[in-house]
Amino acid sequence: MSSRVLFGLFLAVVAIASVDCNSERDALIVWKHGLVDPSNALQSWNSTLPSPCTWYRITCNSENSVIRVDLGDNNLSGILVPELGILANLEYLEVYGNNLFGSIPDEIGNLKKLVSLDLYQNNLTGKIPTSLGQLSSLRFMRFYNNRLTGSIPPSLGNLTSLQILELNSNLLTGTVPVEVSNLVQSGTYLNVSDNMLQGTADRSNSTSNRANYCCELLLFRINLFVALIYISLF
Ligand SMILES: *[C@@H]1O[C@H](CO)[C@@H](O)[C@H](O)[C@H]1NC(C)=O
Ligand SMILES: *[C@@H]1O[C@H](CO)[C@@H](O)[C@H](O)[C@H]1NC(C)=O
Ligand SMILES: *[C@@H]1O[C@H](CO)[C@@H](O)[C@H](O)[C@H]1NC(C)=O
Ligand SMILES: *[C@@H]1O[C@H](CO)[C@@H](O)[C@H](O)[C@H]1NC(C)=O
Ligand SMILES: *[C@@H]1O[C@H](CO)[C@@H](O)[C@H](O)[C@H]1NC(C)=O
Ligand SMILES: *[C@@H]1O[C@H](CO)[C@@H](O)[C@H](O)[C@H]1NC(C)=O
Repeated sequence: MSSRVLFGLFLAVVAIASVDCNSERDALIVWKHGLVDPSNALQSWNSTLPSPCTWYRITCNSENSVIRVDLGDNNLSGILVPELGILANLEYLEVYGNNLFGSIPDEIGNLKKLVSLDLYQNNLTGKIPTSLGQLSSLRFMRFYNNRLTGSIPPSLGNLTSLQILELNSNLLTGTVPVEVSNLVQSGTYLNVSDNMLQGTADRSNSTSNRANYCCELLLFRINLFVALIYISLF
């Protein structure tokens, strides 16, 4: 074959590939395969379509690139897959109120245009990825009511656009990093209560703080003990 024919063949292959290949659609199909969907919410997520823009709860921009995934309260169970990190123009990832388990993929930190990351009320475990500190457009990070462990990454202090940071009701340990508590001074609403955090960096001013409760209980027991000794002596 002459090089001209070969080049023609090459162009034809490229043309076919660019018609058939949509990496965002394929990433969402990989995610669908990681989900159990008893209400059949994702029925329209069909890989034979050229783009995912007409699928249920998917919104695209004028370039047919995905900017919103709105799947809150849809009875979905399953995992968040690393392939979600391919959705380079994603601004809203709304998957609250499902039964997602497993950990938050590091690749979510690639979503540089993300404005809102709502993972609250699921069953997510593992650590909050350090990579989430790269989400410089993020305004809302709501992770409450999960089972996240480990400490709060100091990198979250880089999220200077953050308006709401809700990490409450998880199993987080350690102390609140000063980088993160400094966000409060620049106007971020922070709730870290109902975790297993040390110290009093808990700014929600809650009296139901477990540490306080334990101290009060201990004091009460010591007082009772002293009182009983007193009574038995006299
Ligand atoms: C996807 O759409 C094609 C063509 O409309 C249809 O034949 C196929 O059954 C659909 N697949 C799923 C999983 O719904
Ligand atoms: C979720 O499941 C419950 C019970 O199975 C059902 O009543 C409800 O309609 C479902 N919600 C959605 C959004 O499909
Ligand atoms: C969360 O997962 C645990 C097991 O890992 C399970 O026992 C529990 O029922 C789940 N919670 C919800 C709300 O689905
Ligand atoms: C983010 O924060 C961490 C720790 O506070 C710091 O080491 C890192 O250089 C910061 N990264 C960026 C991209 O600003
Ligand atoms: C902060 O988190 C706690 C525990 O989840 C919750 O009870 C409380 O209502 C939250 N505070 C606000 C102001 O939302
Ligand atoms: C914080 O706690 C103090 C002492 O219990 C209380 O007087 C104050 O009203 C609380 N502030 C808020 C905003 O709840």
